[in-house]
Amino acid sequence: MAVQRTFSIIKPDATRRNLTGKVNAMLEAGGLRIVAQKRIHMTQAQAASFYGVHKERPFFKSLCDFMTSGPVVVQVLEGENAVARNREIMGATNPANAEPGTIRKEVAESIEANSVHGSDSPENAAIEIAYFFAGSEIVG
Ligand code: CMP
Repeated sequence: MAVQRTFSIIKPDATRRNLTGKVNAMLEAGGLRIVAQKRIHMTQAQAASFYGVHKERPFFKSLCDFMTSGPVVVQVLEGENAVARNREIMGATNPANAEPGTIRKEVAESIEANSVHGSDSPENAAIEIAYFFAGSEIVG
């Protein structure tokens, strides 16, 4: 299996509760390496563009309001099969359906305030990484 990179966000519900270290420990224990990371406060324009694929969904405005409600930590994660591995470590989108031991089961508050985002494909990972990071900021 090839070494891959994926894009991750630690969301405002987790930064508000001071859980960035706990989330990072779970990512690292799951075999992923944090090769870039920065704490930012997303603008509405950034959130709307990043989640543009969901713009027709009824939760879109609320999602953008939530993602701009506090700081987030954007990350690049590296490891074997990183896209799928990160999705396993995160667990299901809705924490009610997430497996025990996953980030969302252990930490998330709701389907919206679900603590972490992870890319759903290698193609989207490349797009999402480039949205927030210059190549020079990623140190593997
Ligand atoms: P994420 O993996 O970042 O991708 C899209 C986000 O939209 C998702 O996590 C949730 O935060 C949010 N989301 C998905 N489905 C719903 C829903 N039914 N209601 C509210 N928010 C949702």
